[in-house]
Amino acid sequence: MNFLSKSSVLLLFVLCCTSFTSTEAYDPLDPNGNITIKWDVVNWTSDGYVAVVTIYNYQQYRHIEAPGWLLGWTWANNEVIWSMFGGQTTEQGDCSRFKGKIPRCCKKSPTVVDLSPRTPRNQKIANCCKGGLISSMVQDPAHAASSFQLSVGSAGNTNKTFRIPKNITLNTPGPGYACVPAKIVRPTRFLSADKRRITQALMTWNITCTYSQFLTRKAPTCCVSLSYFNKAIAPCPTSSCGRGKNNTVSRGCVDPKSPHVPGQRNIITPLVQCTSHMCPIKIQWRLKLNYKDYWRVTITITNLNYHMNYTQWNLIVQHPNFDNLMQVFGSKYKALTSLSTTNDTAMLWGIKHYNGVLMQAGRYGIVRLELLFRKDKATFTSKKGWAFPHRIYFNGDSCVLPPPYAHPLVA
Ligand SMILES: *[C@@H]1O[C@H](CO)[C@@H](O)[C@H](O)[C@H]1NC(C)=O
Ligand SMILES: *[C@@H]1O[C@H](CO)[C@@H](O)[C@H](O)[C@H]1NC(C)=O
Ligand SMILES: *[C@@H]1O[C@H](CO)[C@@H](O)[C@H](O)[C@H]1NC(C)=O
Ligand SMILES: *[C@@H]1O[C@H](CO)[C@@H](O)[C@H](O)[C@H]1NC(C)=O
Ligand SMILES: *[C@@H]1O[C@H](CO)[C@@H](O)[C@H](O)[C@H]1NC(C)=O
Ligand SMILES: *[C@@H]1O[C@H](CO)[C@@H](O)[C@H](O)[C@H]1NC(C)=O
Ligand SMILES: *[C@@H]1O[C@H](CO)[C@@H](O)[C@H](O)[C@H]1NC(C)=O
Ligand SMILES: *[C@@H]1O[C@H](CO)[C@@H](O)[C@H](O)[C@H]1NC(C)=O
Repeated sequence: MNFLSKSSVLLLFVLCCTSFTSTEAYDPLDPNGNITIKWDVVNWTSDGYVAVVTIYNYQQYRHIEAPGWLLGWTWANNEVIWSMFGGQTTEQGDCSRFKGKIPRCCKKSPTVVDLSPRTPRNQKIANCCKGGLISSMVQDPAHAASSFQLSVGSAGNTNKTFRIPKNITLNTPGPGYACVPAKIVRPTRFLSADKRRITQALMTWNITCTYSQFLTRKAPTCCVSLSYFNKAIAPCPTSSCGRGKNNTVSRGCVDPKSPHVPGQRNIITPLVQCTSHMCPIKIQWRLKLNYKDYWRVTITITNLNYHMNYTQWNLIVQHPNFDNLMQVFGSKYKALTSLSTTNDTAMLWGIKHYNGVLMQAGRYGIVRLELLFRKDKATFTSKKGWAFPHRIYFNGDSCVLPPPYAHPLVA
């Protein structure tokens, strides 16, 4: 009995701590990475206020791609939205208690989405209307924020009756971000266009959201295959991203030779080419080691997803030789330095108007880039799989690598 209770205490302890680590959002490559949502109350109205809501992406490499963000919350009282610019609610809800002028949205828990870039100018505000896309800080800091404006009614008419919205959720469109309750912060100060006058918000609330791959509860989206010269050595592990042809229920797939390859636009479920790994993204790491003073890697990214053009794609690659990188061909590059880990991690992303978009599966769904490393005599070895990457992320999600025993140059 004593033994039993001790072991169950131990078991509980293990369970609690394992679940703690797996929900842990801390990312050593981006320790301060977060998304901050700021509500600036910019004006009073007769029954509420006007607020500008801005979503700032303070993450180094994780961006929000198509089909874009969804921001939700629950009103504390019976607030309604009279009007919006630069964004819209997905549903109007029940506005039957209103006569005459009808609000745009009466839902207790509204969900807001961005507008498309083709929105008429009179419905836009600054920083809006990007179809829900938000760049990462490294890739395009000028486009790392997204704003909309809303006029809130039935909220009383003093700042004492205003209530901060509760249960703020940020989806992309699946889960992945966990947000903490809003806090009242120092009001934002705005510099006028002529830079000669500073105005300030009447009230400002901040909400911080952090990403955790655990919350996405989704299958991996990419896998890595390894080659040495023209020889395929370790393929993408079987069923990396779902089950193959025999289980088309788990994830739909199409034969690339089929004449009816669908051309649907960005929708959430991928439709992939049938492969043994079923991944929407395949990354090939191909080595050439036989130069005297340097070695070369060709990375080929293949899009096998018919439902997605990956705009602003990026890779995070971890390899111990990145401190000896000489040159990168075919992509942009930034070392992700950190005080806590060795500087062995690089971010690579496409060049705008050249290969910044990884096109949907088919003839153009491929991007190739090259890395040239100096051979550091102290560490370079062709053995034990040293020349292969330790980790690769595509668009922030970790890719499935072949197991270490599959590494070719172990001999
Ligand atoms: C969010 O990120 C910004 C920029 O890196 C940082 O200044 C801020 O402290 C972070 N906020 C939280 C709550 O971690
Ligand atoms: C605040 O609202 C009033 C009345 O609708 C309007 O005249 C004024 O321009 C607004 N101010 C700002 C900063 O939007
Ligand atoms: C509400 O407004 C009053 C003045 O109108 C101001 O003194 C007070 O600080 C405001 N409260 C908050 C929480 O902003
Ligand atoms: C907010 O979410 C929590 C947990 O999901 C729930 O218990 C609570 O009732 C929600 N609050 C509101 C105001 O909806
Ligand atoms: C609130 O968020 C804004 C925008 O990210 C930031 O500039 C400001 O420092 C934040 N305030 C606090 C107190 O965190
Ligand atoms: C599909 O299932 C059949 C029988 O269950 C099996 O013979 C075949 O090898 C499977 N094919 C694949 C691609 O897994
Ligand atoms: C990808 O982009 C091409 C060219 O802009 C377009 O024709 C195609 O429909 C897009 N595919 C998806 C899935 O959005
Ligand atoms: C990584 O690089 C940064 C900036 O160059 C430097 O401050 C840091 O000490 C380096 N870390 C290690 C472990 O070398």
